[in-house]
Amino acid sequence: MIHYHFEEIDSTNDVAKSLIKNEKLIAVTANYQTKGKGRNSNRWVGDKSANLYLSFGIKHELQVDLKRIIAFQGMGCLAVKQALNIVCKNDIFRLKYPNDVYANHSGNFKKICGVLVEHGFIGSVCDYSIIGIGLNINQTVFPDIPNINPVSLAMLGYEIEIKEITEKVIEEFKFLNKLDDDQLFDVWVKELNIIGKKIKVLGEDVDYTAIEIFEDGRLRLISEKTERIIDNGDSVRYSLE
Ligand code: BTN
Repeated sequence: MIHYHFEEIDSTNDVAKSLIKNEKLIAVTANYQTKGKGRNSNRWVGDKSANLYLSFGIKHELQVDLKRIIAFQGMGCLAVKQALNIVCKNDIFRLKYPNDVYANHSGNFKKICGVLVEHGFIGSVCDYSIIGIGLNINQTVFPDIPNINPVSLAMLGYEIEIKEITEKVIEEFKFLNKLDDDQLFDVWVKELNIIGKKIKVLGEDVDYTAIEIFEDGRLRLISEKTERIIDNGDSVRYSLE
């Protein structure tokens, strides 16, 4: 895997999209992003040299099926969670559907990492996948964003070098990339630990229970009266324990 590092770029996801055209597997990091992107067309803003801004690019040589494409959703957050467990030597990190990582901060779970997965298609064939990871490390003051309660490793009391965690995330990612579709999907679903849990959907006053995660990554919920399918665009709340 070739690792490209930049002082300042617009977005590591966008630069990875250009660079992956001529490579098979790359990692792109930057000290600062001027146009960092979050899910649902949100911006991802972070201080310079304070956090990890990392994108993996994977060029698909063979045709990948839907399950593999969806499994990529889980690869970024799984690599981060595993790396954090090892580097911090602590089991306070949890995945949150679909691909955030939360950390237990004095009894409250808060978002420490977000992942933005993008795919490039040629016709109906998936040509490449980009897995963009924003992990809060040394930043301690964050802009107010509704419904987001951020935390960083520094706020949790850890003094971790960005370089150290970057290397670990890359190592874990390489390991996950070797797993087959079913293994990857199963690890993601297991680590999400959401099935059977009580769920609230942002903006709805209904008590749902999570029933299953479909092969396409959507989450199936039921309430007393209705069924609800959740995809990337919806925001859900549930206890992470
Ligand atoms: C989210 O909304 O939770 C996903 C945030 C993803 C942010 C990362 S930072 C590195 C990569 N480059 C981007 O522009 N976005 C992702």
